[in-house]
Amino acid sequence: MRIYLIGYMAAGKTSFGRRLARRLKLNFADTDQYIEEKYGLSVSGLFRENGEENFRRLEREALEELSLRDNIVIATGGGLPCFGDNMQFIKMNGVSIYLKASVAVLCRRLSAAKATRPLLKDKTDQELAASIADMLQKREPFYSQANITVDADDEDRVVEMMILGVRYMG
Ligand code: S3P
Repeated sequence: MRIYLIGYMAAGKTSFGRRLARRLKLNFADTDQYIEEKYGLSVSGLFRENGEENFRRLEREALEELSLRDNIVIATGGGLPCFGDNMQFIKMNGVSIYLKASVAVLCRRLSAAKATRPLLKDKTDQELAASIADMLQKREPFYSQANITVDADDEDRVVEMMILGVRYMG
């Protein structure tokens, strides 16, 4: 069993992913953390030093390397499914879950957590909502290809809904 969590920054892929893994007795990995450990640099540092294009290459490598593991929940970076044929790769290698959060909820969470997100860190709170809405619209065609979509605004029920979805998939 291999489960991929996809969705926008701050949708809860890492925190809900850890909880899902614990409940299903699976291992857990996060592509951002994997890259940070492999290269000894933060995601912000990698963006700063080598740019976004290079980061997207590292993400693809991380996706391929982590997908060699089985019995695992893999939380992906928010942009990962939207580049190259990554979404195709995900669909061929496991069950995908889209954690779908509203612009309002993402905006609230990210206004406190944008410093570690290079694509958002320079936005004012006023610009944030428009940027998120714009990026989400572009990314939705990729995210919506997931096998299962879960309402990530409903924090108390996210893990249960993911478990139901995975069981339904068989
Ligand atoms: C990104 C999301 C981030 C990280 C990088 C780019 C994106 O991951 O990979 O800052 O393009 O949405 P999280 O979704 O874990 O914040």
